[in-house]
Amino acid sequence: MREHDPVSWDEKYGAWHVFRYADIVRVLADPLTFSSDLVGLLPPQPEIELFSKGNFVRMDPPRHDKLRKLVSKAFTPRVVADLEPRITEVTDELLDAVTGEPGFDLVAALAYPLPVTVIAELLGVPASDRGLFRTWADALLNQPLPDRMLPDEETLRLRAAPLHDMIGYLLTHIRDRRAAPRDDLTSQLIDAEVDGERLVDDEIVGFVGLLLIAGHITTTTLLTNTVLCLDTHPDAARDLRADLSLVPTALEEVLRDRAPFPRLARVATAASAVGERTVPAGQVINLWIGSANHDEREFLDPDDFDIRRSPNPHLSFGHGIHFCLGAPLARLEAAIAVPMLLRRCPDLAVADGVELFDARVMAGARRLPVAA
Ligand code: HEM
Repeated sequence: MREHDPVSWDEKYGAWHVFRYADIVRVLADPLTFSSDLVGLLPPQPEIELFSKGNFVRMDPPRHDKLRKLVSKAFTPRVVADLEPRITEVTDELLDAVTGEPGFDLVAALAYPLPVTVIAELLGVPASDRGLFRTWADALLNQPLPDRMLPDEETLRLRAAPLHDMIGYLLTHIRDRRAAPRDDLTSQLIDAEVDGERLVDDEIVGFVGLLLIAGHITTTTLLTNTVLCLDTHPDAARDLRADLSLVPTALEEVLRDRAPFPRLARVATAASAVGERTVPAGQVINLWIGSANHDEREFLDPDDFDIRRSPNPHLSFGHGIHFCLGAPLARLEAAIAVPMLLRRCPDLAVADGVELFDARVMAGARRLPVAA
């Protein structure tokens, strides 16, 4: 597709598909022409509408910029860097629990509990409720690709049920913090001001929910993808084990090779050229990050898995104003956990029984049995 039909209209699916790096960057760099607000295209649904009030990944300027600024104030590079000792401690505890075992599920042992514990502690919600968070993350993100781009009322109704539970849970948490603030991100969000304006609880729900969900399941997939990539590229695994200073570039290569979110979506606000085609106003565009990351126009030998690749301008954290706010945290978690895992498990190998998500929705493993 990238070669012969790089911008194509999919009548059955009801959306455009864009596959080339340069076209995708152009769309992501122009948020006014290519809006992130897809909620307005859906049939009305109370939970989704409520959640959208603070879910700034689905907003356009100027509201997006205002809300992002708010959270950026609480989520500074220093806050992230200060997490290093705690991330190391949690990783240690999790690996202690499986050390000596002949095999274990890497998702259950490390890849899920590590990022969910870190983000839960940041937000001040109990990490012990992670079973609930996983149900919500699965319901929101890990669904098979639907037959049509825009889900019908019935599909939306099914999605709204877990969202309803999540909203209720988070509203209780927010009200608790409003009554008795603590040293956590939720309390800071309640307190934060931009242009003299504070957020109301209905807005904070979408905010905290976005951080909670975006803040863990994606990093889970990065960790599982690292192990999967190293397993399929034994030479790279050997080189990495021999020189752990390559971990940062190796992680970027894993992100490029297996983008956790392989697809982003935008809607054209006006008839606009994308590549050689014109997308009419109001139509939805799928941007295939997974394809862009393998575009031979941008990357030398894109099908090689090169743990030393540099520069590596992959699009797995997005591009432009919505560039992933949690990228420094995801990178830090993986940069701590991967060397610890490799040191503790010198014979780590993927075993039978791997369960993958629908790779068009989320690239990563739901279950990753390993022999250690
Ligand atoms: C946005 C990927 C980890 C919070 C995004 C976007 C992508 C992405 C592709 C852009 C979405 C768009 O343009 O429509 C990832 C990947 C991660 C990761 C691959 C891990 C490997 C995290 C973490 C957090 C987080 C750990 C939170 C702590 C966010 C937020 C946004 C975002 C808040 C919205 C930013 C905005 O709209 O301005 N992420 N993410 N992400 N991510 Fe991440």
